[in-house]
Amino acid sequence: MNTSTRVLMGPGPSDVHPRVLRTMATPLVGHLDPEFLVVMDDIKSMTQETLQTNNPLTFVVSAPGSAGMETCLVNLLEPGDEAVICIHGVFGTRLADIAERCGAKVIKVEADWGTPIDPEEVKQALAGCKPKLLAIVHAETSTGVLQPLEEISKMTKDAGALLVVDAVTSYCGTDLKVDEWGIDALYSGSQKCLSAPPGLSPVTFSQDAVDVLDNRKTKVQSWFLDLTMVKNYWSGAKRAYHHTAPISAMFAMREALRIVLEEGLENRFARHRKNHELLRDGLEGLGFEFLVEKQYRLPMLNAVRIPEGVDEALVRKRLLDEYNIEIGGGLGPYAGKIWRIGLMGESATPNHVNMLMAALKAII
Ligand SMILES: Cc1ncc(COP(=O)(O)O)c(C=O)c1O
Repeated sequence: MNTSTRVLMGPGPSDVHPRVLRTMATPLVGHLDPEFLVVMDDIKSMTQETLQTNNPLTFVVSAPGSAGMETCLVNLLEPGDEAVICIHGVFGTRLADIAERCGAKVIKVEADWGTPIDPEEVKQALAGCKPKLLAIVHAETSTGVLQPLEEISKMTKDAGALLVVDAVTSYCGTDLKVDEWGIDALYSGSQKCLSAPPGLSPVTFSQDAVDVLDNRKTKVQSWFLDLTMVKNYWSGAKRAYHHTAPISAMFAMREALRIVLEEGLENRFARHRKNHELLRDGLEGLGFEFLVEKQYRLPMLNAVRIPEGVDEALVRKRLLDEYNIEIGGGLGPYAGKIWRIGLMGESATPNHVNMLMAALKAII
């Protein structure tokens, strides 16, 4: 194996700090070693801090963001439940697919890709059913939209439903207040603004969500993701074996969390914003237009339309082949029409922006 040293500026994974990479070379301990249980405790408390929550049921699923998504839905939904699912891109579509596979009746609230979900439509959907939960993507990586959550959270509570949030791309890159915003279940990923290797999914459940879990009438249909069992590995007196944790990835996650907290959440969010503005000015100077209206733009995922006459696939290939820079192409209706440029975690630096701008100017 002789892979290149890339500059990761796509929709994730992002570049990883050398401290995190070095930590992965730490000799293994067993997954029930008392020293590893302390590592898990550290991860749990730092995950709570970075998610701004006191939820005791906060831990990391040993699988990527999609498994976090599935964890939230399979534990909270039972066959016959009604679920309002908001769809404004690829990941809302995935949420709806999983909810249907749980046997739920899915009520979809949709918005054009590139725009946020309209709270008025959410209100109508909630009023028209008996929702067990509403699920929504905070940072839609397929389009670059930052979805405001507070108003929708209030409506969801008023309807007596749980609020489930996808924070895979927003976590550690922009404000995310689990407790203050009334989020009941949330999942994220390790590989975006946290800048840890891919393959882990931080999740958190509120007391209301735990009550729903405790009062299920049917067994959770997924053995691996059933929280009633996994939680005994992450907390409690017994710390029972559930599965063999990915030890090295957990070491890395712990170090990445330490780096986030050393920087401070507010500083980290400001850094993401500042580098987004630097990139925006550069791209607009080259004639690019953003897909998303200014107030709803994600700082860590910049979706720009491809200007007339630019061969998008060829430019991306040349960026990778000649400059080792990875950026993302469009998905679904935007395939071939936009680029998705990530400024996530360790990749949100002026150096990254300047490297990409210089390469783009040379190629275009
Ligand atoms: C918003 C969002 N949700 C869910 C996922 C799925 O995460 P993973 O690819 O880690 O399974 C992604 C991945 O890009 C994402 O951006």
